[in-house]
Amino acid sequence: MMAGTARTHVQVLQVLKENMGRYVSGISLASGLQLSRTSIWKHIRNLKSLGYQLESHPKEGYKLVAVPDLLIAEEIVPSLTTSWLGHSYYHYAQIGSTNDQALQLAAQGAAHGTVVVAEEQTQGRGRLQRLWVSPAGCGIYLSMIFRTPLPIPEAPQPGMVVGLTLVKVLQEKFGLKASIKWPNDVLVNGKKLAGILADMQSDQDTTRFLVVGIGINANYRERDFAEPFRYPATALALELGAPVSRRQVLLDFLHRFETEYDRYLKYGFDVMLPEYEQVSAILGKQLKIQSGKEELSGKALGFTREGALRLRESDGQERVIWVGDVLRVEGGF
Ligand code: BTN
Repeated sequence: MMAGTARTHVQVLQVLKENMGRYVSGISLASGLQLSRTSIWKHIRNLKSLGYQLESHPKEGYKLVAVPDLLIAEEIVPSLTTSWLGHSYYHYAQIGSTNDQALQLAAQGAAHGTVVVAEEQTQGRGRLQRLWVSPAGCGIYLSMIFRTPLPIPEAPQPGMVVGLTLVKVLQEKFGLKASIKWPNDVLVNGKKLAGILADMQSDQDTTRFLVVGIGINANYRERDFAEPFRYPATALALELGAPVSRRQVLLDFLHRFETEYDRYLKYGFDVMLPEYEQVSAILGKQLKIQSGKEELSGKALGFTREGALRLRESDGQERVIWVGDVLRVEGGF
C-alpha cells in the first residue's frame, strides 16, 4: 500500500539512505522533494518512531545512522522486483495472526499476491490447532493471498510450493542443507526452521481464495526455544552463527516464490513433485504417524500429486494419508 504520505515517506528515506552517515539539510530535503520543512520534520519523527536511528542537528539537518531490520513497507516494497507478488503489502507491528488477517482481507476482496506481514503475532496459529509462538523480531511471520481457482483436492499444492521455495532459498542463499518433513515443515539439520499453514475459502469444489502462511525462525536464540516447542527447533541465526537480515530473507523468499509459483501455474505440480521428493526428509523411511486419532506405522513410499503421503503399512497395504503428523522416523531426519 504505497499511496500519498507513504510514498513521500519512502522518498525521504531514500534520500537519507543515499546519504547514510552524512547530514542532509532540511532545506535540501524539502526543496528536492517539494515538501514543506514541517512535513520533512514529521517524516523524520515518524521514521524515528519506527526505529530508524537519526541524528538531528539545528544547522546541518538530519543524518541516518542505522536502519532497523523491520519488515515495514518502506523497506520491502521499493526493493521488490516481482510482477504480482507483494505489491499490495500490509505490515503490522503486532497482530493476532497474519493468516486470520489475510483471510479477512481476502474476504473483503484483497488482490491475488497480497502479502501480510507482522513483527509479532499474539495468536499465531500452527497446523492442527496448535499455537505458533511468534515473538517480536525473532521470526518472519508472513501470509500470502492466492486467487488461482484450484480443485479442492489440489489446495495443498501452493503450500508445498512455499516449502520447496524456502528449501531452495536456504540452499542457494545460505548454503544450508534443508529438507521437508511432510507435509510442510522445513528442517535444517533435522530441526524445524519453518512451518506452513494453509487456509482457504471455497465455492463447491473449487477454491475461491487461499491463504498460505509461513513462519520462519530467523533470529531466535537458543533460550527463545523454551516450551511449548513441540519439535526440536532451530533458527537461521543458530545455524549460521550470526543474526540474519530478516528483510533480505523476506525479499529473497518473495522473489523466488513468484518464479516458482509461476512455474507451478504453467507446468502444474507434477513437475515439482520430483523436486519435493528429492528434498523430503522422510521418503523411503520407516515412520510413525499420527493421523486423527489413529497412530500408523509404515514406510513412506512417496506423495500423490495432490500432496498426500503414500504409506506402506507393515501388512503390505498401501495407504494414502491426507492429514497427519510424522511423530518418529527411523534413523532420525
Ligand atoms: C506449523 O508448522 O504448524 C505451521 C506454522 C505456521 C505459522 C505461520 S506464521 C504466519 C502465519 N500466521 C499464522 O497464524 N500462522 C502462520
